[in-house]
Amino acid sequence: MKVLVTGAAGYLGSEVCRRALAAGHDVVALRLYREPPHGRPVRVDLRDDDEVQRQLMRHGPELVIHTAYRQAEEALEGDVVRASRNVAAASHRAGAHLVHLSTDLVFDGEQGAPYGEHAEPRPVSAYGEAKLHAEQLVRTLHPGSLVVRTSLLYGKPEPGPQERLAARGGDFYVDELRCPTHVGELAAALLELGERDELAGPLHVAASEAVSRLELALLLGATRARGVPSPRVGRPRDVRLDSSRAAGLLRARLRGVSETRS
Ligand SMILES: NC(=O)c1ccc[n+]([C@@H]2O[C@H](COP(=O)([O-])OP(=O)(O)OC[C@H]3O[C@@H](n4cnc5c(N)ncnc54)[C@H](OP(=O)(O)O)[C@@H]3O)[C@@H](O)[C@H]2O)c1
Repeated sequence: MKVLVTGAAGYLGSEVCRRALAAGHDVVALRLYREPPHGRPVRVDLRDDDEVQRQLMRHGPELVIHTAYRQAEEALEGDVVRASRNVAAASHRAGAHLVHLSTDLVFDGEQGAPYGEHAEPRPVSAYGEAKLHAEQLVRTLHPGSLVVRTSLLYGKPEPGPQERLAARGGDFYVDELRCPTHVGELAAALLELGERDELAGPLHVAASEAVSRLELALLLGATRARGVPSPRVGRPRDVRLDSSRAAGLLRARLRGVSETRS
């Protein structure tokens, strides 16, 4: 199968490319500044509508996995909302199935956790709002797309953002709950789900174990970690995801962080 991955130099995207190649797929690795370690690199700025259309029509993938994003506030409108809109419109026009990556931070974390796919998103941060806006555009422009919401990613041999935070040490929130998910296991799940183009709409894909930011830091090896309460403003408290629907669809179980670190 021809698979096109956006954000192919990123933490998740590079792992998706690596596993897709190992599974024998033809992998088009979309990049912006950094060079992707796996797949056939193609440079595209996803904010450029015409260029995204052109490259999708040129390469004609059967599956697009859209991981690209940027979390800085000034980048949200371009690299999250506009980029997602362009990828969805172009994937639809090219006849490709789309797996779009989203986040547990579309929820407010105040009540209702663990959140199922039918829970009402109500983001409390600018990032969560931009990701929700992107989800809405993607579902409108590509109604057959699968919108995968996941949680904090960790687990590559080289340290990722969570491992770097843990190594740095300092204050970690004791009252923010997430469902950290092993990046390799998520990448495998995305490829498996992506082959099933009858799956559409939101799907929660995270490990079932929930831990606080402090527990996560300790499990990732922090030695100088101090537990503190979250300031709450702009930070959802409990965004545990209910991923039982995905668990029923997937061949392999997504292991909790305690299990992957034991
Ligand atoms: N990481 C987490 O803990 C986490 C948690 C929940 C959900 N997610 C979701 O998972 C997805 C992947 O996250 P990640 O941590 O793997 O991201 P990442 O490591 O920051 O990689 C994002 C990639 O997107 C590329 N990119 C950004 N803007 C672009 C543009 N305009 N055109 C082309 N490429 C662009 C970047 O290119 P350059 O390398 O060239 O800058 C980068 O390689 C995101 O959708 C995120 O919302 C992640």
